[in-house]
Amino acid sequence: MKKYIFLDNSATSFPKPAEVYKFMDYFYRNFGVNPGRSGYDLCLETGSLVEETRRMLTAFFNGKDPNRLCFSYNSTDALNLIIFGLLKEGDHAITTTLEHNSVLRPLHHLWKYSGVEVDYIPFNRQGFVDPDDFPRKFKKNTRLVIVNHASNVLGTVQAIREIGRRCRERGIPFAVDTSQSAGKIPIDMDKDNLDVLAFTGHKSLLGPTGIGGLYVREGIEIRHTRAGGTGVRSAQRTHLDEYPYRLEYGTLNVLGVAGLNAGLKWIENKGLQAIHEQEMKLTTQLRDGLKDIEGITLYCQDNLIDHISVFLFNVDGLDALNTSTILDVDYNIASRSGLHCAPLVHEQLGTDKIEGAVRFGIGPFNTEEEIQIAVEAVKEIVAFQKRKTG
Ligand SMILES: Cc1ncc(COP(=O)(O)O)c(C=O)c1O
Repeated sequence: MKKYIFLDNSATSFPKPAEVYKFMDYFYRNFGVNPGRSGYDLCLETGSLVEETRRMLTAFFNGKDPNRLCFSYNSTDALNLIIFGLLKEGDHAITTTLEHNSVLRPLHHLWKYSGVEVDYIPFNRQGFVDPDDFPRKFKKNTRLVIVNHASNVLGTVQAIREIGRRCRERGIPFAVDTSQSAGKIPIDMDKDNLDVLAFTGHKSLLGPTGIGGLYVREGIEIRHTRAGGTGVRSAQRTHLDEYPYRLEYGTLNVLGVAGLNAGLKWIENKGLQAIHEQEMKLTTQLRDGLKDIEGITLYCQDNLIDHISVFLFNVDGLDALNTSTILDVDYNIASRSGLHCAPLVHEQLGTDKIEGAVRFGIGPFNTEEEIQIAVEAVKEIVAFQKRKTG
């Protein structure tokens, strides 16, 4: 198999820590049964792991009640539960142009088919939204503010604490998409004034694909938009109202929970701050290696404070897809080009007209040596492009 320099960790982290693979294999071979459905020992063991992981995640996000930590299949799934479960016809929602399609599309569907009004707050030249722009859009019928914590395109981290404070003052539910930030920077339900958060397990939380979830603060009730088996009170004809069953439907992905459990333990062992510092050191190395090159455009990489390890650029005159293909074929470097499922970011940057941009996503297993190879590769592509266009 060809050896890659994997710089697509914003799409999914790869590889996972060895402990994650090992524990998933061990757990699934020994306890891979349906939790909460029966009383035999294996089933109880599986249930214990699920409950332990709920407790760990609740503590990780500084929530209060592990029962309000519900598992889903990824953050798209969790965000759909939140958006469709909190908004109804006649409501108004506020979001930002930084959002991923997992927020934009549910909101657009509600606008198109259910008469929900949506306002989009733009970001400034540095890639940040202004918390004061939110109250300016508040209306009597505003029922949700939903914001992407860390941009999967620009890497900028939004001032969610400030936005949350403004929402709390008006009693408007505030939801945050932590898909890119969870596992990279601290997130605190209390201090950050969050009402609901959605997370995905396969990115910086270092678990496998197919597992994610949401935490719902006490006092926020998300309506059912699905119904099904829960393993308890089977005679009841409607879906259960109490958490976590309220937002969990059918058999859980216990293999995913096991991987996420091991990923979280790995993060806690290393320390969130140490992981983030190492990733930002590499992001700075990348930025500094490329910022003064003529023939390359960087987007929102000037100031790496309030930033995660996402690096966006274009080689001038070359389509992003071509740059990614050359990086792959000639240098074995995995990157992601295009619109990154966040079309409004590219619309605002103007990169939608040139097929988007190229993204490097740095993870905990990248090294200085790999970054140096990536810098040299991009420099060579720029030089080649200049020779071509003369
Ligand atoms: C900011 C953001 N939100 C949501 C998602 C969706 O994550 P998932 O595909 O795991 O549902 C992503 C994935 O790239 C993301 O970057």
